[in-house]
Amino acid sequence: MRKINLILNGEKRSVYVEPNDLLLDVLRDKLGAKSPKCGCDRGDCGACTIMLEGKSVRSCNILAIEVDGQEILTVEGLSRNGLTELQNTFLQMNSFQCGFCAPGITIAATELLDKNPHPTIEDIKESLSGNLCRCTGYTPIVDAIFEVSKKDK
Ligand code: FES
Ligand code: FES
Repeated sequence: MRKINLILNGEKRSVYVEPNDLLLDVLRDKLGAKSPKCGCDRGDCGACTIMLEGKSVRSCNILAIEVDGQEILTVEGLSRNGLTELQNTFLQMNSFQCGFCAPGITIAATELLDKNPHPTIEDIKESLSGNLCRCTGYTPIVDAIFEVSKKDK
């Protein structure tokens, strides 16, 4: 076991990990951040997407030991001070059904809107190309992100 230190959702945290522990499992099982989900465990579905040093990544593809000293944001941190405009718009527009994909898509869409506050529909679809949703056909998700993008920021 080795101790790693990180900043999770704005808080300094320390945790002991095995060399082969996946970041996704450590976040969920040792650090209490349950929003990243395990959909495929092999980098295909995007359900485990988190922000690492400000960039969206798949936490099932990263060893926990690799993120020593780095900063992580999950949906828990995103809504620390209340739901974001994007999250509220997802709710208002009933964008999700089962919600399993929602945390990963929320992180991916947040990254998109941070980089490009006024994306086109094509930009939005492209940004979600690595996030699978089995329920919605994506339209209500894309529509909500586009709705947010139309507002002045
Ligand atoms: S669980 Fe990580 S991409 Fe599917
Ligand atoms: S809402 Fe069910 S997987 Fe997306």
